[in-house]
Amino acid sequence: MSKLKLLLVLLPVLAAAPQFWAQSPSLAVELPPGPMKAKATTACAECHEARIIVQQRLSSAAWTKEVDKMVKWGAVVDAKDRDSLIEYFSANFGPEQPVYVPSRTSVDKRQK
Ligand code: HEC
Repeated sequence: MSKLKLLLVLLPVLAAAPQFWAQSPSLAVELPPGPMKAKATTACAECHEARIIVQQRLSSAAWTKEVDKMVKWGAVVDAKDRDSLIEYFSANFGPEQPVYVPSRTSVDKRQK
């Protein structure tokens, strides 16, 4: 098959891929409800999925470092929102929270 034909065959598949991910709610993780949810989603789910945040279990000192690091890297956080954002993450994803359980998209073979 020529490279052009291969491209023509693959194009619809590649074009559909983002829709596939968007339509799979079990694969997309949302930030928890709270007054900072909207701002956190805008500021923090711009470069990466919310999952990278949801799976953390950090002290508030560690969240402070994390948020400041992300702001240095380009996260748009209003100075007046910084502390509330750190509080929001610390309250939801602190060391006292139950261990994060990643969702499994493959069939669990142990149950068969
Ligand atoms: C400008 C892009 C960008 C924005 C905006 C951003 N991050 Fe990140 N973040 C990154 C990159 C790059 C990594 C490293 C990615 C990786 O390891 O896959 C990362 C990783 C992380 C991690 C994993 C631990 C670590 O330090 O590697 C956490 C937690 C995190 N970000 C939280 C946040 C939070 C909270 C916000 C909002 C305040 C945010 N991010 C906004 C780019 C960004």
